[in-house]
Order: sequence, then C-alpha cells, then structure tokens
Amino acid sequence: MVKTYEALMGSLGRSMFYRPERQRVRELLSRDARPKLLINGAEYPLFDVSMNGLSFLTPNGARDWPIGTTIDLELLLHEEPVYSGTAHVARVEPGPRGSRVGVGLMTGFLDLPEIRRRDDQKLLEEQMDPGAAGQMAKVPQSYREKVTEILHFFQFYRRALDYHERRFRAEGATDSDLTAFAQRAYEALREPYYQLHREATSEALKFMSQREVLIAAKEYTETVLVPLTLDIPLNKRAYLKPMGYPGDYQVMLYYYNKSFEGDSVFAKVFHRIGLEHPLAHGVCTRKDFIVQLMEGEHDRVLAERGGSCEFRVASLGCGPAREVSDYVSKRQTWPGTAVWTLIDQEEEALGVAFRSCKREIGDCGAPAQLDLLNLSFVQMINEGVPLHDPESQDFIYCTGLFDYIKESRAQGLIRALYDLLAPGGLMSVGNAIGPQDCFWTPEFLGDWSMIYRTRDQVLQLGALLPDSAGLEVVAEPGNAYYFLNIRKKEPARGV
Ligand SMILES: C[S@@+](CC[C@H](N)C(=O)[O-])C[C@H]1O[C@@H](n2cnc3c(N)ncnc32)[C@H](O)[C@@H]1O
Repeated sequence: MVKTYEALMGSLGRSMFYRPERQRVRELLSRDARPKLLINGAEYPLFDVSMNGLSFLTPNGARDWPIGTTIDLELLLHEEPVYSGTAHVARVEPGPRGSRVGVGLMTGFLDLPEIRRRDDQKLLEEQMDPGAAGQMAKVPQSYREKVTEILHFFQFYRRALDYHERRFRAEGATDSDLTAFAQRAYEALREPYYQLHREATSEALKFMSQREVLIAAKEYTETVLVPLTLDIPLNKRAYLKPMGYPGDYQVMLYYYNKSFEGDSVFAKVFHRIGLEHPLAHGVCTRKDFIVQLMEGEHDRVLAERGGSCEFRVASLGCGPAREVSDYVSKRQTWPGTAVWTLIDQEEEALGVAFRSCKREIGDCGAPAQLDLLNLSFVQMINEGVPLHDPESQDFIYCTGLFDYIKESRAQGLIRALYDLLAPGGLMSVGNAIGPQDCFWTPEFLGDWSMIYRTRDQVLQLGALLPDSAGLEVVAEPGNAYYFLNIRKKEPARGV
C-alpha cells in the first residue's frame, strides 16, 4: 500500500516497548472495505487502527470526550462486524477542524492480519463475480476508448521500435547509432504521446468527483495499460514505489538527469518522453528557480552582514538536493560560510544528497557546511528542529512536499517553518499548479496522487502567518509549480 507523506516518520519515534503499530485505514484495507465505525450507536470517520485501539475524527473537542470515559464501539467492514465491545478514551488531539480521539479496546483485540485476510477474500469473491465484466461496466465508454487508443500507441511503437532495433543490431549498429535512433523516435513521438495524455485527462475530469467510477477507471487503467509500461524505468519506479511512497529520490534523479535509460530502444524512448511531462520538466525548472532565489538571498545576507557572515539555508524534504550542488558548482566561492541544513525522512535520499553536495563543495573548495537531518516534518511540527534556534535561517525552501499535504496541516507546517526564519529572511514553498491539463499520467498511469492548487489556494497556505509577513505567489518558469514566497519583516529599529 502507498504511504502518505504524513505517515513517513524519519529515524525517530521508535521505542523499545512493544506497541502494536497504528496503521492508516487506507493503507491497511482495500478501497472497497468501506469501514463503518459506530461509537455509542453514532457513526464517526475512522482514522487509524492498531491491534489494541483505534482513532476517529470528531468535530467536537476534548470536552465531549473526557479521558477515561467508557464507550460502546462497533466496527464494520464490508458491512460485516469485525469488532464489537467496550473501549476507553485514551487521548484527544485537537486539530484545525475538530479533534482526533484515540481509544483503547477494553475487550479482545483487532486481529489486523485476519481483518486483512477477510478483506482479500472479499476482493477475490468480487474478482470472480462480477469480475472483469463488472469492472468494465463501471468505466465510461469514452474513457475506455481513450485507453484503447493509448494502448494501441504503446503497442504500435513497441512493435516498430523493437523491429528496427533488431534490424540495426543485426547490421552492426553501435550504441551511439542506437541512441541516435532513440533520439529520432523520441522527437517524433513526444507530441502525439502528450496529446493523447491531455485527451485522457479531459475524459478523466468528467468523473473525478464520482468515487465509484474513479476507482473503477483507475483499476481498469492499471489492468490494461500499466503492465505494458513496467519495462520503462521511470514508469516502473513511479508506479511500483519501492520505497513505499511516490516521488522518491531515484525518480527525482531521473528527472534531473534527463537521459535515455532502459534495456531496449522502446524503453529508452518512453523513459525519455516521460521526463518531458510538464510536472517532470517543471521539477528541473523549479530547481533552477530555487538556485536563483538562493543567489539573491545570499547576496542580500552578504550585503547586510558583511563578508565573514554565515548564510544559513534549510531545505525540507530535500531529496537529492540537486539545487545545492548546482548552486555550489555555479557560484564556486563566496565570503564567509554557507550552512545548508538538508532535512528528509529518507536516509537513502540524504546519502545521495550528501555525496553529490560534498563532491561539489570539495571540487570547488567552497566555504560551506552541510548538516543533514533524518527527520519527518511531523516531528518538526511537534518537536522543532534540532540544532536550529528560532529565527536562525536566512532562506528556507521546500519543493515536492506540500503537493501531498492537506491544507490545515500545510498551514501549520508553514507557520512552524516561519518561526525558524530570520528577520528579513525568505521562505519559498512550491506546489503543483492546478488545474494540470496532463494530471492523468501521474494519477492513472503512476497511481501517484497529488494536490494541485490554484494561485488562491497556494496563498491560503499562509493563512496562519502574522499580518506582518509579506506574501506573494509566483509561478516558476516552467509554469508547473507555484511558489508561495514569504518574507519576514525586519523588526522596526528604535530611534
Ligand atoms: C518529491 S521529492 C522532492 C525532493 C526535492 N525537494 C526535489 O525537489 O528534488 C519529496 C521528498 O520529500 C521527502 N518526504 C516525504 N515525506 C516526508 C516527511 N514526512 N518528512 C520529511 N520529508 C519527507 C521524501 O523522502 C522525498 O525525498
């Protein structure tokens, strides 16, 4: 099951006492499980479950749920009861729109492996009857026709490219001959490929708000098309998500490297085409945008604080931190020291960032310090950032993270990051622009959901900031991502 960015916890938070793991319902159960939670007979949205408890959402706060209160609890999945008994309120966590109430079971336990097995059995029953016909019947015909067109496109060019690759190889073609062939095919197929994807996006837009149809259309696409794309390195990594979540550092490296990768000319061509998706190309242009902002902020700090100062920068969800190595290679040296704090929940991503940045810093002899933190933003909100004093960072940026975080959480995170920003400093937060006329590709071919935001919705992410904060929303040059730029005012100087 795909993990949400909010569930990625970094290296901390593990304890030596065994506590049954809590799992988000959507990570544990199929889309069809339809959990129904009844507390004292009234229904509440289930949030997460563990073997000895669960939590649910309620619009009401702690007053309605005193700690220790005993409640009657019934949980149904697939409209069948899986638990019925008493529980006690163990904790109430306030949120922006109500509270999350955690309860401990007082009788028995939730046998999660068994619950999952039953869920799988239900799936099997449905797959046998109504089966394939049942799935197809739920998908609009015009969408199926578009998928068939895309299927034909893939298979036509697989056949053609395989044939000519074999022919060229038999004639003794070199690697560079085959790359020239791949380049030619890439140039010819790129535009018609994306035309089809834009058309598929228009079809999908017709049913995005109808949950049943959307689920059926996604499953239909994953049945018919996705298996044919799994020898294309980008598609394979994006869809299979070997790290458990979308957009891991390897996908970002593919985007930045823009090379032909794959075992066949077909795979190379479609891998390379995938890198031209507006959102993928936009990752590169937003990286250059950040390099530019970093340059401006560095100049500002040098002008304000003089040549022996520290320029302090923090990146949250840094991934491979390509903008840092690019910045060092571009600027090479400067007066004083630049201190980058790179934060990511993923240790492997930090390893990649460390290596490439250290290499560039070493090659240029740049006066720089690199601190890497294996932290989740959830821990940051709750516990602050180790090593960082409030108001210590001159430039804070974040790309590829807010597109996965719901509004209220995102607003809280921006507020927490703002506290770390030095007076006069800049914070820049990226988010994919909505509507995106090619969102079908990640959503349906990659099962990769993002939150696309309009200019106003991006501006709204700064809603918890003080009035004194200067806010503007700008699009990066690729026009795929907005940035919310937040300037913290210098305090008024006394006379
Ligand atoms: C799409 S990548 C973007 C990487 C980088 N900012 C870039 O633009 O190249 C998202 C990154 O956020 C990290 N991430 C996801 N959830 C996180 C969390 N809860 N806390 C910190 N980092 C997180 C992932 O590990 C991943 O490296």
